[in-house]
Amino acid sequence: MKLSLSNSSISRVRADLLAVPVALHGLDKNAELKALDKECGGALKAAAKVDDFSGKIGETLRVFVSGITAKCILLIGVGEGGTKPRDARALAVKAANAASKLGSMALVLMSEDDDSLRAAAEGLHCGAYRYTTYFTGDRLPKRVLEEATIIVKRKDGKAAIEQGEILAESIMLARDLTNAPPNDLTPKALAEAAKAGCEKHGVTYKHFDKKGLEKLEMNLFLAVNRGSAEEPRMVHMTYKPSGKHKSLKRIAFVGKGLTFDSGGLCIKPGPAMLDMKCDMAGAAVTIGIVLAAARMELPIEIHALFGATENMTGDAAYRPGDVFKSAEGKTVEIINTDAEGRLVLADVLHHAAKLEPDYMIDHATLTGACLVALGPWTAGLFANDDTLATKYLEAAETEGESYWRMPLNDELRDGLRSDIADLKHMGDKHGGSITAALFLREFVGKTKWMHLDIAGPAFLDRAHGTSPKGGTGFGIATAIRFLENLSQKS
Ligand code: BES
Ligand code: MN
Ligand code: ZN
Repeated sequence: MKLSLSNSSISRVRADLLAVPVALHGLDKNAELKALDKECGGALKAAAKVDDFSGKIGETLRVFVSGITAKCILLIGVGEGGTKPRDARALAVKAANAASKLGSMALVLMSEDDDSLRAAAEGLHCGAYRYTTYFTGDRLPKRVLEEATIIVKRKDGKAAIEQGEILAESIMLARDLTNAPPNDLTPKALAEAAKAGCEKHGVTYKHFDKKGLEKLEMNLFLAVNRGSAEEPRMVHMTYKPSGKHKSLKRIAFVGKGLTFDSGGLCIKPGPAMLDMKCDMAGAAVTIGIVLAAARMELPIEIHALFGATENMTGDAAYRPGDVFKSAEGKTVEIINTDAEGRLVLADVLHHAAKLEPDYMIDHATLTGACLVALGPWTAGLFANDDTLATKYLEAAETEGESYWRMPLNDELRDGLRSDIADLKHMGDKHGGSITAALFLREFVGKTKWMHLDIAGPAFLDRAHGTSPKGGTGFGIATAIRFLENLSQKS
């Protein structure tokens, strides 16, 4: 999709669809809207009356018009708000959704500051997103949105648009990877996708294969891989700012990259297994973050690591009752082979902590318990550092992604005691997302660390807010905003 800015008047823009935000009772009150309605021969007010459209938030109305150059108008209610960057994104997503089967569209915004333009650009691309890789014949879309124009009064704004496009590309890459079927997106293929992105955008790439993981004594990670016919991969991507973009901080991102989670010998029931191709969403988001940060030339050194494997039931599969020694040195008794993510993360987090980052942040579709606690649209945020948590929640608020801080309750740690090893890898029945986080904490040492359980928002069974059904790319926008804030404030 080609995206551009235009200073043209609303009534003279050429587009199949013109999307216009309407504040509450805006059609009666707003001079520009009144003028537009007049040029359309009163069609907007007439349609609004028939359909009882008053500009409440969430309302939309499509009106076919004559008298102006656009073929139809989409009125989008914004209620009393609409002026924040996150509102611009929501507007853009709605508009692009509505126009996804048309050729061209134009969008009017409530505010034109840099952040709103950037969010609108991101929203237009992401709103037009479809996963069509596996369609053939008449299942292929007949038309795709080819052109979008944002109508503004200002003359600059190109840089903000470009930033939005970079973000959108990372988000859509993460969605593509998350939606990809697990027979094609193997651990090796996921690593290759990361490598391709790194080569394109000047990020250093390296990976460890099974032998490499054995050398690093990552026995927890390797235990999960035992039942799979596919080789595991640990990928390490590095972006170091150069020249004038002096590095202020070093941040490590870590992702869970289970390209398929059958549950292992403690096998999942069919319906629960169906969506488990999404269990590499943390890795996908981690790739998206480092690529976007590099393209934006942020003045921060970023390490992005993920552990990729399947969790399967092959002959050599690990069993409940097995004991393995982690790379960090602690021994771990396996309880339920479906709690595999924390094992992979434990070894990768330990490895990443050795880089001595200022902050270490992991994204993982870690527990169903987090979904039970917070619902499908909110990520659980666990942190051993209050400043980090506060800064992150602030960035999330700006971007309109939903996180909720969860406690690392020390009382629950007793549940991780094993009779025969240093640790069990699961706690008691209740507080499952917390005991998973407590288990991870055993492997981060003194590093300032945050764990984001994205089991809910990473993959949706129906579209919600600005997120589509399926893979969402949740987490990238907040991470980038956090990194940007960090580069300004320190
Ligand atoms: N990948 C799942 C968690 C998950 C569930 C992600 C639903 C997305 C949607 C994870 O590996 C898992 O199976 N966790 C178990 C842990 C349990 C055995 C302690 C769970 O949540 O049931
Ligand atoms: Mn599992
Ligand atoms: Zn899993």
